[in-house]
Amino acid sequence: MAVGKRFKIACVGAGNVGASVAQYCAEMELGDVVLVDVVDGLPQGKALDLTQAGPIRGYDAVVTGSNDFGAVERADVVVVTAGLARKPGMTRLDLLAKNGAIITDVCGHIAQCAPDSVVIIVTNPLDVMTYVALRKLGFPSARVIGMAGCLDSARLRAFVAMELGVSAKNVDTMVLGSHGDDMVPLPQYTTVSGIPITRLLTPERVEAIVKRTRSGGGEIVALLKTGSAYYAPGASAARMVQSIVRDERQLLPCSAYLTGQYGLDDLYIGVPVRLGKNGVEEIVELELSDDERAALHSSADEVRSGIDGLRELQIL
Ligand code: NAI
Ligand code: 2OP
Repeated sequence: MAVGKRFKIACVGAGNVGASVAQYCAEMELGDVVLVDVVDGLPQGKALDLTQAGPIRGYDAVVTGSNDFGAVERADVVVVTAGLARKPGMTRLDLLAKNGAIITDVCGHIAQCAPDSVVIIVTNPLDVMTYVALRKLGFPSARVIGMAGCLDSARLRAFVAMELGVSAKNVDTMVLGSHGDDMVPLPQYTTVSGIPITRLLTPERVEAIVKRTRSGGGEIVALLKTGSAYYAPGASAARMVQSIVRDERQLLPCSAYLTGQYGLDDLYIGVPVRLGKNGVEEIVELELSDDERAALHSSADEVRSGIDGLRELQIL
């Protein structure tokens, strides 16, 4: 009997987002999952808990946890959520330096233990951290991808569905740019069963939804008070894992390394990509209005200033 390949998915960082990625990947039986974290007992405890949910939820993915980075050995896909969230009193540059050092450390282990893997970075500030990962891993850029656009576009889809009282399944959208206040949601490419939202909503309502999407992460931080979102981020990263291990070639907004596309070069930023077993198989260039293009370029300036900050700190 022919037996299909059992994929191995490593989640580096077993905090809120890492555990959610593990949960969704196990539930979808995308492969066996290993959680890795520096905190003693945390990845082991969450792995055991997810294993015990298996009989009820009906999955038989093997979920394990470890404090040893050797556990990522031969992983097909590695999802990196290791890092800190910005705390009161911490500057943006402090966060860049701390998470830049964590990504550098983690990528050294991944390059050694899983040199053929596709790596998905989730740690913030996302686009800059994905650039750090590319440089530290030394992998082809197609195998180093950032997760943010899937989350930002899921938020926009949810807000459009809530506004119109329709199923979110009928809403399609695209959000470009960096992950943050400068992201570029595209109403012209946002549709409900093929109908552009610009025909269903007033310009004021469209603008309000775009604004809420841009501050979608902050809205949840303000509600939770002690942390940031993790269900939708976990589901978004798992969606990317799904497209890779099943070679689905879904067209998804992801942070990808640009080499001239959209007039941008040598940086990571959110753009539509075709995601398959080899990672980014194509970067799709959409026709943008002058305003959208200017917004994308201004978003890229923000990413560049983060990269420059890390160069000054000699992390890059
Ligand atoms: P969390 O604090 O719950 O988990 C982070 C985990 O990383 C902790 O368990 C910590 O022990 C671990 N860690 C720290 N250094 C490590 C190292 N060197 N090796 C292995 N593990 C290490 O944080 P949460 O909520 O899971 O968020 C994780 C990151 O993801 C943050 O940077 C957050 O801002 C970012 N994020 C990004 C999103 C996106 O759309 N790109 C969405 C949501 C969160
Ligand atoms: C989010 O957008 C904090 O980046 C995180 O929820």
